[in-house]
Amino acid sequence: MPAKQSMMYEGKAKKVFLTEDPTLVIVEYKDDATAFNGQKKAQIAGKGELNNKIASVFFRMLQTKGIPTHYVDTLSDREMLVKKVSIVPLEVVVRNIAAGSLAQRLGWEEGRVLPKTVVEFYYKSDELGDPLVNTSHIDVLELATHEQLVQIEELGRQINIHLKSFLADKNLLLVDFKLEFGVDEEGNLLLADEISPDTCRFWDADTKEKLDKDRFRRDLGSVEEAYEEILRRLGGFTL
Ligand code: TMP
Repeated sequence: MPAKQSMMYEGKAKKVFLTEDPTLVIVEYKDDATAFNGQKKAQIAGKGELNNKIASVFFRMLQTKGIPTHYVDTLSDREMLVKKVSIVPLEVVVRNIAAGSLAQRLGWEEGRVLPKTVVEFYYKSDELGDPLVNTSHIDVLELATHEQLVQIEELGRQINIHLKSFLADKNLLLVDFKLEFGVDEEGNLLLADEISPDTCRFWDADTKEKLDKDRFRRDLGSVEEAYEEILRRLGGFTL
């Protein structure tokens, strides 16, 4: 197992450590939860472990479908070995059902099925509060090349298809989710960051019960239990 060296970066929900291999880093998932650009903060016992395991299941599934990801291995309850990438400063949101900021922006009732998949880009900037940006904004800010953006949107749509059908088998609706991409040393575009109840909306297909971070954002309670239920429906994850 590669040894952890100095911490390279600490985000709201994860820490990233260098290893002796310059092409690999270790991601440590924290129990910290934030919402509304860090204004709301809490610790959710067990969240780091649950997200590490849930993300491991998703990354492995997507790799079997041919999606290029940064995932290499799951090292421990909270640690994942991934390829070192330079993160494209965009949050790529893919939506199947109106919820959250889209429901607000378009005035659509939460839960209304979108007639077509919606893909949005947000500029990753804490100072600006991650604003929605269009392709011209991305171009002038030089956040990604046109070619990268086309590839990112196409990967986002493919990932949506794979995740949606994988989750449907577990009686879960994939309402929407956020992806981040990175570029490795060889210039390959890889799915990076995490896929977890922190970054997706999952609803029970029958009851429409929310089984994701909206339970924390909206003070619905039973946050940890919801994340546990997701891991349980995915079949669990053993190291
Ligand atoms: P939104 O409806 O608030 O724009 O969120 C869309 C999706 O993106 C939802 O699944 C939650 C996820 N998300 C993040 O992962 N990080 C964020 O900072 C935000 C605002 C949303």
